[in-house]
Amino acid sequence: IPVEEFDLVIFGGTGDLARRKILPGLFRRYRSGQMPEGARIIGAARSDMSADEYRQMIAEAVAEFGGEESADKDGLDGFLRNLDYVPIDAKGTGGWDALAAKVRQDVVQAFYFSVAPSLFGDLAERLHTNRIANSESRIVVEKPFGRDLESARALNGTLAEHFDESQIYRIDHYLGKETVQNLMAVRFGNVLFEPLWNNHYLDHIQITVAETVGVGGRGAYYDKSGAMRDMVQNHLMQLLCLIAMEPPSKFGADAVRDEKLKVIRALEPVDSHHIVRGQYDESSDGPSYREDVENPRSFTESFIAMRCHISNWRWAGVPFYLRTGKRMKGRSSEIAVVFKDLGHSIFEGDEARHRNILAIRLQPNEGMDLQVTIKEPGPGGMRLVDVPLDMTFADALGDHEIEEADAYERLIMDVIRGNQTLFMRGDEVEAAWQWTDPLIAGWEARNDVPKHYEAGSAGPEDAMMLMHRDGRRWREIKG
Ligand code: BG6
Repeated sequence: IPVEEFDLVIFGGTGDLARRKILPGLFRRYRSGQMPEGARIIGAARSDMSADEYRQMIAEAVAEFGGEESADKDGLDGFLRNLDYVPIDAKGTGGWDALAAKVRQDVVQAFYFSVAPSLFGDLAERLHTNRIANSESRIVVEKPFGRDLESARALNGTLAEHFDESQIYRIDHYLGKETVQNLMAVRFGNVLFEPLWNNHYLDHIQITVAETVGVGGRGAYYDKSGAMRDMVQNHLMQLLCLIAMEPPSKFGADAVRDEKLKVIRALEPVDSHHIVRGQYDESSDGPSYREDVENPRSFTESFIAMRCHISNWRWAGVPFYLRTGKRMKGRSSEIAVVFKDLGHSIFEGDEARHRNILAIRLQPNEGMDLQVTIKEPGPGGMRLVDVPLDMTFADALGDHEIEEADAYERLIMDVIRGNQTLFMRGDEVEAAWQWTDPLIAGWEARNDVPKHYEAGSAGPEDAMMLMHRDGRRWREIKG
């Protein structure tokens, strides 16, 4: 779908996200010819610098974070010509006249709030008092969207004073990942899976988002959040919704989001016995969590595993096991849909428990594999083995775009196209906090102490037990 001419203003235009993700992503879109003539990107931030200095800064950022394509110097020069900069005082008056003079009123306008949420209100108000934004403008906001229900409601309220819900694009970058979108294609584009997608045929579902990195330089933020707020409330919740939602009537923003919201609202409170929190220990290649966040008494979790239930007709009795953590054995995100055992085997002497498993790999090596049971080749009689029907999307499609295109660039283009399907609606975010808050309050009230786990492992022993108790086990995290 072609993109219309636009002005994109990035508040926080000199920040980490802008330099690492937003601008390198836009550069790649420019190179692939998706940026129309006359599209403009205006950085706005506190630093007093000229547009040329800003272009220089972004040239360096693209070279560092833009992948192979940043070697294209002519392309980069062309891209930089679309870039401008305005020093701005988000809480004062400085810079707003200059910005008003630059932003056009007859093209698509998008304002990316890549700043602390405490500034959302100031920016929204000044965009209006300075007559920069209009009733068609789009604004883009990032997580963290609040740290609990109350703060999320307050943020939604602040934004709603100035913008209609149809103008607000709340990013969860997991929704921009190719394979996450593919979840919907697999479920609703094939006749094969949907009839089996319920408690008659499924035993359980596992969602794993494992990272090898620690909290790095983000200790101050992370120690106040932990894995629950940082990953579960948003990214894992979104994955869970896409796996569990009813088929929407069409692939449209509200149809999809209505169905996701119903899933979140049907999530049962999680019993404390079904939550395992962990913190990584020091290892030969890195400090412990507590050293990383410089808080020797921290009780924040860098790992969490839990068993959840969705109380509706389709999912009654099918547990969803979620786990995510830092400094784990491998970087691997995967959803495994585990089918029930056969009720009866006709193959005498076959004691093994054969199971179909549909594993959807989100990253790395995006793809799917379906574990099926077949006869072991050879004359030895009817012996059965489980083998994967493996499909790696990049191989199957002969297309490397999958690995290279980043979630952000897809989502930003959707903002310009005015497509909200892959963005979180305000009520969705609030419902997610509504489910999360009591779980956090519960472990705080119990003074729960996270379990230790070895860096480079699959998490604390108790997380294994969470599954073993139910006669199940986690899929292996590939190193
Ligand atoms: C971010 C979290 O939202 O997602 C980080 O704040 C996490 O802690 C990151 O590392 C993971 O994203 P990805 O795309 O690398 O899986």
